[in-house]
Amino acid sequence: MDFELKTLSRARVATEKCDALVVLVPEKSPVEADLVSALLGTALKHGDFEAKPGKMLQTWRTPGLAANRLLLVGVGEGTARQVRTAVASALGTLKGSNVRRVIVSLGWLGTEQLGPQARAAVLAAADSAYSYQLTKSKPVPPKLQSVLVAAPDAAQVQAAFETAVGVARGVELAREWGNRPANHATPTLLAGAAKELGRLKGVEVQVLGPKEVAKLGMGSFMAVARGSEEPLRFIVLRYQGAAKAEAPVVLVGKGITFDTGGISIKPAGEMDEMKFDMCGAASVLGTFRALAELQPALNVVGLIPSCENMPDGRALKPGDVVTSMSGQTIEILNTDAEGRLILCDALTYAERFKPRAVVDIATLTGACVIALGAVRSGLFASDDELAQALSAAGEAAMDPCWRMPLDEDYAEGLKTNFADVANVAGRAAGSVTAAKFLQRFAAKYPWAHLDIAGTAWKSGAAKGATGRPVGLLVEYLLSQAAGQGARKPAVKKAARPATARSGKVRSA
Ligand code: BES
Ligand code: MN
Ligand code: ZN
Repeated sequence: MDFELKTLSRARVATEKCDALVVLVPEKSPVEADLVSALLGTALKHGDFEAKPGKMLQTWRTPGLAANRLLLVGVGEGTARQVRTAVASALGTLKGSNVRRVIVSLGWLGTEQLGPQARAAVLAAADSAYSYQLTKSKPVPPKLQSVLVAAPDAAQVQAAFETAVGVARGVELAREWGNRPANHATPTLLAGAAKELGRLKGVEVQVLGPKEVAKLGMGSFMAVARGSEEPLRFIVLRYQGAAKAEAPVVLVGKGITFDTGGISIKPAGEMDEMKFDMCGAASVLGTFRALAELQPALNVVGLIPSCENMPDGRALKPGDVVTSMSGQTIEILNTDAEGRLILCDALTYAERFKPRAVVDIATLTGACVIALGAVRSGLFASDDELAQALSAAGEAAMDPCWRMPLDEDYAEGLKTNFADVANVAGRAAGSVTAAKFLQRFAAKYPWAHLDIAGTAWKSGAAKGATGRPVGLLVEYLLSQAAGQGARKPAVKKAARPATARSGKVRSA
């Protein structure tokens, strides 16, 4: 998918050739004399269109218009959310048509919110253009090829536009790997995807196998992998955008490529969805894809422990005690609480980077789905400033999270007579007790944990990975780059001037 940004006035957009021109219409839009405004005025007068969110009117080959189709789409007050919904439904109605090139015009919106509106438009367009193909015998690639965002003054939305295109590339990668079936997304294949990213500017990738992981003493991670024929992988990504000495932010992604539950096996219903149990890992890969695109001035490390959780003659058993890389012993009371067992060793490994902050991202608990549903990811943090920055990033990126508690009393249930800690507590507050377990391994740096069990994928007819929380993570990282008095600008300047075809970004 190609995205392009261009300065086009209301009058000028009517003369630009495309298959469909999508005009976002707010409830309060100043009247002008151009052709589209005239059509809009007539439609409003006759009650054939309202600028309310979700309302739409389509015309075809209208005399004087270069576009084949014109779609007037209501955005109500014109919030970023409303723009996102409007673009999604406009492109939704065009699905299955022969529309390849679309223009989305921001020219009828006010000027105050144009940045967030442009971002919302790009992300919604990228979302509707994505279509999973890998394991179809007759792939039908999506028709939509290019989206041109038309703004009254491209320079005004250039930065937001470029950020959005970077995020969109990352979200797409995260969705694609999340969606791939477990037999097409093994730990080895996931490591291959990471290595591909190593070809991009500023990104380096290292992949460790069972021998190296054993040498590091990651007894907890290794215990989970024992039941699987697929060898584990520990993936280390590095993005360097600032001086080497600059402390990095470390992202840790849960990479269980399939979670059967192990010996504490899960029921059969919907077990297929446990192929999504590597969405935390996929979000780290997607974030690195975006970093490579945006080149912000900061350092980021990505850590992905990846394996399957399978039952087998060699699999770990309830009651087994393992020794983690930190030296802490863990009694495994439920082999289905495996995410925390692979994450704890990665959190210990993170110490060597002397990080300014560590954020882990995991489809960790069904309890988090019960608590927050599919709207907000669960946020747990040992550091208020970090929690604040992540919350704010989630709001700005329309990829929200909600802070949950970490009172010491919640750790009570993790006590056991046979090891330093048990891997599960009771049913109550399951997402909090999971976070309390992780916190024991993250004492040496500011730490946050995002439980994305409810937000990483959709079930039912729309089953598929969402690419969340790539938007949140990229927004957070960009805010950190700007905040450290960096030498480079937070986001690289476009090579082109902000006139004519400004900010044109082509897909890699
Ligand atoms: N990957 C699951 C969490 C999960 C379950 C995410 C359902 C989304 C939907 C995780 O490994 C798991 O199985 N967690 C257990 C923990 C329990 C045994 C303490 C759970 O949530 O049931
Ligand atoms: Mn599990
Ligand atoms: Zn799991």
